[in-house]
Amino acid sequence: MANSFAAQLADALEASWPAIARPNQLPPPGGWQIWLLLAGRGFGKTRTLAEWVCQQAASGQAGRIALVAATAADARDVLVEGQSGIMAVSPPWFRPVYEPSKRRLSWPNGAIATTFSAEEPERLRGPQHDAAVCDELGSWSRPETWDMLQFGLRLGRHPRCLVATTPRPTKLIRELLAREGGDVVVTRGSTYENRENLAAGVLRPDHPQIRRHAAGPARAQRRTARGHARRVVEPRDYRCDAPSGCATASENRGRDRSRGNLG
Ligand SMILES: Nc1ncnc2c1ncn2[C@@H]1O[C@H](COP(=O)(O)OP(=O)(O)O)[C@@H](O)[C@H]1O
Ligand SMILES: [Mg+2]
Repeated sequence: MANSFAAQLADALEASWPAIARPNQLPPPGGWQIWLLLAGRGFGKTRTLAEWVCQQAASGQAGRIALVAATAADARDVLVEGQSGIMAVSPPWFRPVYEPSKRRLSWPNGAIATTFSAEEPERLRGPQHDAAVCDELGSWSRPETWDMLQFGLRLGRHPRCLVATTPRPTKLIRELLAREGGDVVVTRGSTYENRENLAAGVLRPDHPQIRRHAAGPARAQRRTARGHARRVVEPRDYRCDAPSGCATASENRGRDRSRGNLG
């Protein structure tokens, strides 16, 4: 019995997030208010959000958490009930109860998380939080949702927000990148880093999705040239499907810029 308990404990530790997460999936040190995780599709961004939420709730660091996704369906189907979502990554001994009608998750220690849709900024007028996660910020249709969320992020001594998104040249992402080194810390990652956990063949160059997105940066640069959109994200932030990951801007200078990411 004792052995079996010890074996179970060892298995649990081996499979625990701190043991299996890659360094750029773990919270960076320091007094940041916003952690911006920029990475290609399949990198493990949603998993990182979900694990961080569980850690915040379990440690008591946060007790009123906002979970914001592009749509209400994404919040429910991806962030909460998805394959890498909060319910899937929660250990049996600290599993929240999910009440979809209340858009609420409640943990045994009293911590609560509420889901929000980026399509409904008004719902964030009023509620206050001590932690927030934002999935796929680059796809949000209403940027004012971000402002509402930030106004309400004022509970506790050090409210924090984790944003995970496939890089897109949006005004909001550009603004956050401009704050890098201040209250915003940025980690970058490549889809390739997570290849062992992705279905075989997903990263083959002839995969239809890879080919479809291969023109991403080139298209953005053409839009720039036409004056419809400024190029707002460094090429390194597009190139998250490259085996080298999101390299530094200088490393990218002179490289072929015609490749895109998966997102
Ligand atoms: N460090 C890791 N160890 C094991 N599996 C991981 C790790 N990071 C991500 N995964 C798994 O990889 C898959 C893709 O992750 P996901 O979070 O959905 O990616 P993204 O949101 O970036 O598209 C999921 O099955 C997730 O659980
Ligand atoms: Mg995701």
